Amino acid sequence: MSRIKVQAHYDEVAEVYDQRYDLRQGRLYHHHLSQTVLDRVAVDGLLLDLGCGTGLFIEHYHKNGGRAIGLDISPGMVKMGRLRCPESEFIVGTADILPFEDESFESIASLLAFTYLNDPDLMLEEAYRILKPGGKIAVCTLGRNMMTLLVPFFYRMGERIGYKKIGVGDFGENYYTGGEMEKMFREAGFVDVGSQRCSFAHYTLSPRIFSMAQRAEPFIEEHLPSFAFNVCVSGRKE
Ligand SMILES: C[S@@+](CC[C@H](N)C(=O)[O-])C[C@H]1O[C@@H](n2cnc3c(N)ncnc32)[C@H](O)[C@@H]1O
Repeated sequence: MSRIKVQAHYDEVAEVYDQRYDLRQGRLYHHHLSQTVLDRVAVDGLLLDLGCGTGLFIEHYHKNGGRAIGLDISPGMVKMGRLRCPESEFIVGTADILPFEDESFESIASLLAFTYLNDPDLMLEEAYRILKPGGKIAVCTLGRNMMTLLVPFFYRMGERIGYKKIGVGDFGENYYTGGEMEKMFREAGFVDVGSQRCSFAHYTLSPRIFSMAQRAEPFIEEHLPSFAFNVCVSGRKE
């Protein structure tokens, strides 16, 4: 998969990205992801958001009392992040080569970006290196299960027929199950590793169905996790 292609895509959509995730149902959807991640990291100390995009999670983290730095491969997305959160630092870079000293952060977060990584093991190795002992990591991303099996096919078809939408393209994304991601986290050295499926109310649903799905979401996440399409994996550096 070409990082350049992913970067070019997000540069192209940067100015309209927030129309998807910072308005109406998209905002509620993203807020649920942000809260799921926030519950698994520390809110004191410094957090690094990998693939931070326009800074939606950083804003949420900041409102909850945390300090954060965002890193993203797309200069266009980083520009929007700087406008959203002028109090935070944003860096253009790739999540698997981190320009930080060992043991510099208390927490690491990543939302909806893990699938794009060429080498997720390298990203986790780097994350482990820059976390302080006791530091926490939480990664929330579209997971692989029966709800998402056909997503890569639709994205490839979308590109072929020239369908222009945020995130739609043949980027060779890799989708993992919670178990596969947990294994990667453990191999990188993390302890207390766990995963939880999350998200049942998709922002594209009609308002009535979305609101019903939102009410059912806690039950689905706990009792019918195969119907929840994102996965949040967390761990701790000993
Ligand atoms: C779907 S957006 C998610 C943005 C943000 N985390 C959010 O929740 O709104 C995916 C982001 O991952 C970034 N990205 C993709 N590959 C990356 C990489 N190798 N390193 C850093 N960022 C990357 C993209 O530029 C894009 O901003």
